[in-house]
Amino acid sequence: PIADDESVWLFGYGSLIWKADFPYLERRRATIYGWERRFWQGSHDHRGTLESPGRVATLIASPGTPCHGMAYRISGETLKPLDIREKNGYLRETVSLHFSDNSTASGLVYMATQDNPAFLGESPLAAIAEQIDRAHGPSGPNRDYLLNLAQALREMAVEDDHIMALERHLLALR
Ligand code: BEZ
Repeated sequence: PIADDESVWLFGYGSLIWKADFPYLERRRATIYGWERRFWQGSHDHRGTLESPGRVATLIASPGTPCHGMAYRISGETLKPLDIREKNGYLRETVSLHFSDNSTASGLVYMATQDNPAFLGESPLAAIAEQIDRAHGPSGPNRDYLLNLAQALREMAVEDDHIMALERHLLALR
């Protein structure tokens, strides 16, 4: 456990890249190795419904592959409620964060593994894009999640072929 007055790095690779609704002490782009961002997690509670589930990003093990994201240094006090919220269906892993000045730090990351009931797994990109285009949930259109993520990655000059290809498919639908 992390004491309230201690701090910890949290690595974000999905909505946390562009939307952090908690206080943080520091925000830095970071890279982790051994994981790929994929729209393989179903969402029936945030970006979709039970009848029309959406898809959100999770991390899939892939030896050596870099995943670029955003790291937040947060207090133990901030982590506590987040941990309860994000762990729901997700696994918390400890990872090595690599910063652009070549320094590293240990950090936490939440990921949806294939044994969680909402996991959907791989589908053709066109099918994933169509599913995302249809889905809406309490957090808003699933479409906005993908477009916000693609835009944030572009602004960070991050190359992510899966996300950019999905965005192209999505934009071609309308
Ligand atoms: C993320 O952006 O890293 C994230 C957001 C919500 C749940 C798990 C991970």
